[in-house]
Amino acid sequence: MRRTVIAGNWKMNFTPAEATEFIKVVKPLVAGKNKCDVIFCAPYVTIAAAQQAAKGSKIKIGAENVHFAEKGAYTGEVSAKMLTACGVEYVIIGHSERRQYFGETDETVNLRTKAALAAGMKVILCLGEVKEQRLSGITNEVVAMQTKLDLKDVTAEELKNIIIAYEPVWAIGTGLTATPEQAQETCHVIRETLAKLYGKKAANGVTIQYGGSMNEKNAAELLAKPDVDGGLIGGASLVPEKFAAIVDAAQ
Ligand code: 13P
Repeated sequence: MRRTVIAGNWKMNFTPAEATEFIKVVKPLVAGKNKCDVIFCAPYVTIAAAQQAAKGSKIKIGAENVHFAEKGAYTGEVSAKMLTACGVEYVIIGHSERRQYFGETDETVNLRTKAALAAGMKVILCLGEVKEQRLSGITNEVVAMQTKLDLKDVTAEELKNIIIAYEPVWAIGTGLTATPEQAQETCHVIRETLAKLYGKKAANGVTIQYGGSMNEKNAAELLAKPDVDGGLIGGASLVPEKFAAIVDAAQ
């Protein structure tokens, strides 16, 4: 049985003090909601404060990216070893904002993923089509290709530490959400691709989240779909009541 995972991606939001305050408010709201895991991925400088605030709760704190080298001349980057040394277990890799604004490619996403897995981390691997690709009817091909390239040389054993977040780029931060049918169809294509690579049983064990303007109003419908096993939440993960309502929808 695969786990339902509701994860917040805070992006470039929250100082340590703001994160502490946020976690303090959201903690009782998600307490005892045992049908899903809850993760917040935070800016590097905010991680320690968030971890401290989340102590004693079900909330896990992750990072928003990780570099592929163990150490060296990579100004501004952080290694998997540094993250695990700080007690960070989860990391987002391949977010469309990284691909769009910071030149990340399937190749660097794959390198980062393998480095994180080798360090024993759990990866939330993001992929999804842009608007033009959906309008051209090539969404299925695009996500299948990304799945194959991003997971190149990842073993079946390592796949157990991968969560895939299907995030149609046109739905991120736009208020446009994929319909539950669109989310289901594309998450299913990702699972079929995993089945081709790793076999049906392994594919059925992978948590596949939907992300892109998921909120307290549309979450229940999206999460009801058989291949949608959770959500990666941006804007609504900054408001405790909205995030908690999504966790409720996953119960
Ligand atoms: P929004 O929920 O703000 O659309 O962001 C989704 C996202 O990018 C999560 O990684």
